Amino acid sequence: MNVTTTRLCAAAALATALATVPATRALAADPPAKLDMQRGTELMQQQMAQMTPELRERAAALSPEIKRFLMSVALKHERRSDTMTLVQVMHEILADYQTIGAAIATDNGPMAADAARRVALHRLPRGGMLPYLPFDKVTNEGLSVLPAMEVAVEGNAMKLAEAADKGDMVGAANYYGAVTTGCVACHAHFRGQPGSTAYVPRLRK
Ligand code: HEC
Repeated sequence: MNVTTTRLCAAAALATALATVPATRALAADPPAKLDMQRGTELMQQQMAQMTPELRERAAALSPEIKRFLMSVALKHERRSDTMTLVQVMHEILADYQTIGAAIATDNGPMAADAARRVALHRLPRGGMLPYLPFDKVTNEGLSVLPAMEVAVEGNAMKLAEAADKGDMVGAANYYGAVTTGCVACHAHFRGQPGSTAYVPRLRK
């Protein structure tokens, strides 16, 4: 596949991921009353303290809906790292994701269910997610897809776990596909060149 085809497929995947999310879930973080506002504010302040002043300013200007969503993410994910980058967290997610695949293929419900829950409740990197996104995507519009990504990956990973708990491995396999669509859609939106490196590659143009 050439780059244009890959991008088109990725855009289609994003559209599918978004289409499967009911409109009411478009920005469906838990309502504020259900959030532990005090703990949530504390966690957001910790993240902001690790950002550059430039990014902190951007983050502070986000809409209350997006802020509430980011807060709900910070509260839900109880494993938080002070050192790991998003790439390291993603590699951990990839390892758990592959474990799910192995477990489904070998009809191992408990192994699939545990790994799926680890994906759904993955670790958060140092400073939260914003520091690792392209700066021009740290806007209300750029971040508006996040709740749909959460439903696609984490929502379907939890459903996968429930199916695997019941020994329904065909159901689990279907959810595995839905989770994968979420990985693809989010990368298409946020990641730019896949596998890029901070070092200047000595490759001919
Ligand atoms: C919320 C958006 C989002 C979701 C959902 C997501 N990723 Fe990522 N992923 C990213 C971003 C952004 C990067 C690039 C981070 C960087 O370069 O600092 C990335 C990078 C990666 C990397 C590092 C290697 C590379 O090619 O850049 C791996 C591996 C990865 N993701 C795996 C996964 C898997 C597996 C899933 C699904 C289970 C997934 N990701 C879901 C946003 C996401």
